[in-house]
This record gives sequence, structure tokens and C-alpha cells, in this order.
Amino acid sequence: MPRPEKHVLVCTHQRPADNPKGCCSARGGGDILNEFAKEIDARNLWGRLKLNTTSCLGACEQGATALVYPEGVMYGNLKTSDVARIIDEHLIGDQPIDELKVPADVWS
Ligand code: FES
Repeated sequence: MPRPEKHVLVCTHQRPADNPKGCCSARGGGDILNEFAKEIDARNLWGRLKLNTTSCLGACEQGATALVYPEGVMYGNLKTSDVARIIDEHLIGDQPIDELKVPADVWS
């Protein structure tokens, strides 16, 4: 298996509805995952990119979140409408999108 150029981890972690931390599942993580899959498929990029679900990335209040490696860029408050832009500008164009990143202090 070739090493992917970029690896996208989409948080789909689920907690009970009454959990005060909330979760990315309740904030659309599954829809974000499906949108990445659809848009990667449409661009025929499966040979270059790898997409996986992940459990909690630790920034639940920023959900839905996704983490892109090798850069280690975490995106937050994602909407499905953000996904095509992330693919085009970051995953293909190598330009992470500052306005979609979680606040810098998430990584302390
Ligand atoms: S549940 Fe997604 S970051 Fe915690």
C-alpha cells in the first residue's frame, strides 16, 4: 500500500445526549465523513489520500473536527460545505485554511 500524501481523520465520536461535553457525532461528524468520501471519490483521489474515522480528538467544543496529517492541522466547527474547499486548497493545494482551523490554544 502506498503511503498517502495526506491522511484525514474525521471525528465521529458519540456520547449520550445529556453529556455536557457533547460530541462530534451530534455535530455532524458522520455527514462530514460522508462528504469527504463523496468529494474524494469525485476527484478520483483515493490513491493519494487516506480517510478514516477517529474517536475523540480532544476538542469536542470545536466539533465537528477533522485532523489532517502530515501537517497536524485540526479543523473545527466543520460544515459539509467546508469539505470541498479543504480538499482543493489543503489536500491538493497544500495550503491549510486558517479560518477553519481550531484556535491555536487547543494545542497547548
Ligand atoms: S468528540 Fe470529536 S473532538 Fe471530542
